[in-house]
Amino acid sequence: MIWLWRRACIAAIPNLLPRDAHVVDLMAGTGEVWPHLLKRFPGINKITAIDISAGMHAEAVERLHQGREKRITHLNANALETDLPEGIADCVISTFGLKTFNKDQQAVLARQVARLLKPGGTFSLIEAGDPVRWRLRPLYRFYMTRCLPAVELLFLKGAQDFSMIGQYTAQFVDCAHFAECLHKEGLLVTQTAYVFGCASGVAGHKPAG
Ligand SMILES: C[S@@+](CC[C@H](N)C(=O)[O-])C[C@H]1O[C@@H](n2cnc3c(N)ncnc32)[C@H](O)[C@@H]1O
Repeated sequence: MIWLWRRACIAAIPNLLPRDAHVVDLMAGTGEVWPHLLKRFPGINKITAIDISAGMHAEAVERLHQGREKRITHLNANALETDLPEGIADCVISTFGLKTFNKDQQAVLARQVARLLKPGGTFSLIEAGDPVRWRLRPLYRFYMTRCLPAVELLFLKGAQDFSMIGQYTAQFVDCAHFAECLHKEGLLVTQTAYVFGCASGVAGHKPAG
């Protein structure tokens, strides 16, 4: 599902990007979304990946992105505070980096997205959430809070990356608040729910005028 949702996030970018586009990936992690991005837009000139964890990028390029590394620049920075110049991005994307932000931080991030985008630029972000109206929600919650952390603990050498995912997704719920924040920043936004709200996304553009 995660693979499909990353692909859906890229498919939701509303317009074609210019041939030499500059894309900013917020909370980029190991850049799992870039293959989808470069498949849809092979002409992309530059991806600026922002992540607060320095180790992520080194691992990403070495393990996953050899051959693409010349087009990728990593910034070890807090996406809420980045001082990248205003209007540098043709497109801003993010996959699964929103859920740890509270409502105030989502407002700050929305300001950053609006600031980074060129007039006419596009954006698409996706996050896992809590399908509050789904009948099978209890099963999904059980999977997120118990199964996923247990599986990685047992089979991924004691890793604990997903130990908090149940709590984070329950607090985040969906992209509705973030969509409102983007709208307040003057962006045109549409929100989409995936699989009964197990994930949700926002996409749109900054008006050209
Ligand atoms: C769940 S991972 C998502 C990674 C990747 N985008 C993907 O699709 O798998 C969330 C990432 O957000 C990063 N992160 C968390 N808070 C951040 C912040 N304030 N600024 C930049 N990166 C942040 C973490 O280091 C982590 O790599």
